[in-house]
Amino acid sequence: MATVKHVENVAQTQLDTNMAKTKPVKLGWKPEQIDKISHALNSVLANYSVHFQKLRNFHWNVTGSDFFDLHIEFEAQYKEAAEHIDEVAERIRVFGETPFGTMKEYLNESEIKESASSQMDSDLMVRELLSDYRVLLQYLSAVVQIASEQRDAGTENMVKGFIKKIEKHHWMLSSFLAK
Ligand SMILES: [Fe+2]
Repeated sequence: MATVKHVENVAQTQLDTNMAKTKPVKLGWKPEQIDKISHALNSVLANYSVHFQKLRNFHWNVTGSDFFDLHIEFEAQYKEAAEHIDEVAERIRVFGETPFGTMKEYLNESEIKESASSQMDSDLMVRELLSDYRVLLQYLSAVVQIASEQRDAGTENMVKGFIKKIEKHHWMLSSFLAK
């Protein structure tokens, strides 16, 4: 088994070496293409991470007659956000780039801002989340555009899945406010 593994490693090394001789690429993308994709993904990562913490904050601190509905809904949304965040960060790693990993980076790079308070009226919480989702959709659409231009189907498909889910959250939260 050790011999087989060695042969596989040699073959892979030769493949990488041959690829490196012809063009400085990672999975077929040039460095400038990877810069565009990973930068757009890191912007999504920063915005999504601030939004994620806001959902947790609201899950914990929501009060009032809507408590049970919103407490449960916010938890479902932050669990989904955590999965999307992980996928975005790992997609950046696929390209050999570094996803933002600190709260400082997230706060500096995010257009979505933290809530001014942890004690907000439940309707205001929902309005703030709706605003967050509109911002997130803009950044996700930008990723679709950039990924499409670079023929990066993996990133494009991943992000399109997020968009569909977020658009549904936007509809549901909007309907909640229409009560
Ligand atoms: Fe909880």
